[in-house]
Amino acid sequence: MNTTQPYAGNLAVLYEGIGDSLPFQQLADTLAVPLYHAVSADTQEAFFLSWREGALKLIDRELLKKGGLSVDIEPRNGEQRSWPAPKQGALAQAIGRKTTRVVDATAGWGQDGLAIFRMGYEVLCIERSPVMAALLADGFNRLAQQNWMQNLQLQPPKLLTGNAIALLSSLPTRPDCIYLDPMFPPKRKKSALAKKSMRVLRDLLGDDDDKEQLFAAALATANKRVVVKSPDYAEPLGGKPDVSFQGKLLRYDVYLVDK
Ligand SMILES: C[S@@+](CC[C@H](N)C(=O)[O-])C[C@H]1O[C@@H](n2cnc3c(N)ncnc32)[C@H](O)[C@@H]1O
Repeated sequence: MNTTQPYAGNLAVLYEGIGDSLPFQQLADTLAVPLYHAVSADTQEAFFLSWREGALKLIDRELLKKGGLSVDIEPRNGEQRSWPAPKQGALAQAIGRKTTRVVDATAGWGQDGLAIFRMGYEVLCIERSPVMAALLADGFNRLAQQNWMQNLQLQPPKLLTGNAIALLSSLPTRPDCIYLDPMFPPKRKKSALAKKSMRVLRDLLGDDDDKEQLFAAALATANKRVVVKSPDYAEPLGGKPDVSFQGKLLRYDVYLVDK
């Protein structure tokens, strides 16, 4: 990926004539990508960002008519709709009952970070892709406006944009737990099992080839533990974990710092 113009030729902001165009222009400027008013056969970009139905959406050509993908702020299937949701299941076991502060250093679509937040943990999200960070910021703004958040006077997770390998060492306070879910190469080339949102992420960003450095930075920073979410076919990122919790087609490998 070209690091000075990471999205050149691949991404544009799309203003479809609804509402104020200024935020669209500002987003295009921030990401250094073009602003279009329509998509034609000549348009070369594969991805578009646009506000539709009150949410910022990442739209690929296949989804152009359907609506696109945004950060989902609703509880996941089977999750209890109370706050805090019970600390149950493999993710909660991996994060740990005694944990208070969690850094989700690979925030992506924010689905794990938000589930951790809804269980009552204090969450800071880090995301290095400016596109994903823009989608997350929009999702966290929508979350802040939910009645239940306002009634409980809760603030959404904090968000830092940048590379966690550098940012972790400059945090003002060390978190109890650092949660990592980097992109692993798929088992098969076109994994039919991968969710659409994760396939789009891989198409846009590619694999995370510096996961070992991220793991080392996390281990040096966390006060109590590092949790790595990993597909069940992948080798553990940090060697043999202290304990593992099995989820559906995945594992949470836990590395304890304070043994
Ligand atoms: C597999 S996705 C995470 C999905 C996320 N757990 C969720 O529930 O939506 C991995 C994300 O981590 C980000 N990432 C990977 N390495 C990073 C790093 N060193 N610093 C910050 N973000 C990173 C990628 O840009 C990508 O958006």
